[in-house]
Amino acid sequence: MKIGYDVVGNIAILKFSRDAKLKDKKEIAWRFLKEHRQVTTALEKVGKFSGRLRTQKTRWLAGEKTKEALYRENGCEFRFNVESCYFSPRLSEERKSLSEIVKPDERVLIMFGGVAPFAIVIAKKMKEKSGRKGGGGKVVSVELGRECNKYALHNVRRNKLQEIVEVVQGNVRRVIGNGKKISEEFDRIVMARPQLKDSFLDVAFSVIKKGGIIHYYGFCKEDELQDMKKLIIEESRKASRRVRILKVSRAGDIGPYRWRYRVDFKVLG
Ligand SMILES: C[S@@+](CC[C@H](N)C(=O)[O-])C[C@H]1O[C@@H](n2cnc3c(N)ncnc32)[C@H](O)[C@@H]1O
Repeated sequence: MKIGYDVVGNIAILKFSRDAKLKDKKEIAWRFLKEHRQVTTALEKVGKFSGRLRTQKTRWLAGEKTKEALYRENGCEFRFNVESCYFSPRLSEERKSLSEIVKPDERVLIMFGGVAPFAIVIAKKMKEKSGRKGGGGKVVSVELGRECNKYALHNVRRNKLQEIVEVVQGNVRRVIGNGKKISEEFDRIVMARPQLKDSFLDVAFSVIKKGGIIHYYGFCKEDELQDMKKLIIEESRKASRRVRILKVSRAGDIGPYRWRYRVDFKVLG
C-alpha cells in the first residue's frame, strides 16, 4: 500500500489512499513507530488543510495519544498542536534562507505568522549576527488564530527571543496599517500567505519602507508565473508605489504541476 507522511518532531502524520482499511492503517502505523524511534505518535491525515486558519483534521492511530508536537529546526524549538495550528516542516529551508539575508538591525514583519517559526528562526540568526551588543532589530509576527498565537508566545519564550520578537493576534487587515495597532514601517515583510484568493499586497504596501523588501509567497503553475508578477505590479500601482522584482524561486510543490513560489521584490518608492 502506498503511503505518504510528514514527521513533525514526535508526531508522524500518515496519508493513506481512500480505500485503505482501518485495521491495515493501524498495523502500518505501529510498524512506522517501530522503525522511527524518535516518533512516538502516529496520526492519520483526514482531509486537506482548509479554512482561513489552514487547519487539518487528524485521527489517532498508534502510540502516545497526543496531538501536541515538539519539533526542532534551524537550531530552534517549537511546540504546537498539529490539528489546531498550521505548520509546515517543508518550509524550513525557506526560513533558513531568509534568516541568512536579514541584517541584525532590520525591522521585519511576518504576516500570517502561525506558531512563529519564521519570526523565531530569523530573530535567532539576528541575535547570533549581532553579538552581545544586539543589532537593534525587531521582528513582529501577526497571526489570526488564537490557539496558534498561544503557542507562538510560548515558542518565543522557549527560544529566549522576547526582546526581539513581538507576537500580535489578529487579522492582518485589521491590525496593520495607518492608525491601526501596527502602523510603523518595516525594512522587510515576509508574506507566508495561506492559499487564499486575497493577495494582501495592499496591506504590505501600507507599511513597507521606501527601499524595503517584500517576500511574497504565491501558488500557481509555472506558466501562470507571469500573472503573479503582473498582480504584484498592478497592486503596487494601486498603492502608488514602485517595485522592482529581484528574484523568483520555487519554495516547494503543492500538487500536480503546482508550486509554491517566492517572489522577492524591492519597493523603490
Ligand atoms: C500558510 S500558513 C503560514 C503559517 C506559518 N507562517 C508557517 O510557516 O508555519 C497561514 C497562516 O495564516 C493565518 N491567517 C490566515 N488568514 C489570516 C489573516 N487574514 N490575518 C492573519 N493571519 C491569517 C492562518 O491562521 C495560518 O496560521
